[in-house]
Amino acid sequence: MFDPGYLPETLLHRERQLTALAANLRPALRSSTPMHTLSFGPPATGKTSAMRTILNEISDYAYTAYIRCPLARSAYKVMARIFECVCRHQPSQTGISIARLYDSIC
Ligand SMILES: Nc1ncnc2c1ncn2[C@@H]1O[C@H](COP(=O)(O)OP(=O)(O)OP(=O)(O)O)[C@@H](O)[C@H]1O
Ligand SMILES: [Mg+2]
Repeated sequence: MFDPGYLPETLLHRERQLTALAANLRPALRSSTPMHTLSFGPPATGKTSAMRTILNEISDYAYTAYIRCPLARSAYKVMARIFECVCRHQPSQTGISIARLYDSIC
């Protein structure tokens, strides 16, 4: 079975895309809001791998969260995953609103 968590050590022929992604995310390193990025292209051409490569590179300098949305099927679950990635533990209270979860993350 393929491992969805697999990330190749070297992403071949994606220098231009990695540079563009890094430029969009650069403001996060200055505690500013990074640019939204839409990544599109044929299947299995490295869109996810490129994003994860860049997120790994900046994870020492900014909070990052990689969320596979088919597994987090509601806005609440996405926010809870972000909370886990930032706070390194699950939200202690269950049933709190998305707004409170968002405030806690901030
Ligand atoms: N440029 C590349 N260099 C090395 N390996 C690559 C490259 N592009 C894709 N791969 C390999 O192909 C697999 C699929 O890539 P990935 O999941 O990143 O593609 P995707 O564009 O996000 O696909 P999808 O459209 O299905 O979401 C990766 O795990 C990786 O092993
Ligand atoms: Mg993908």
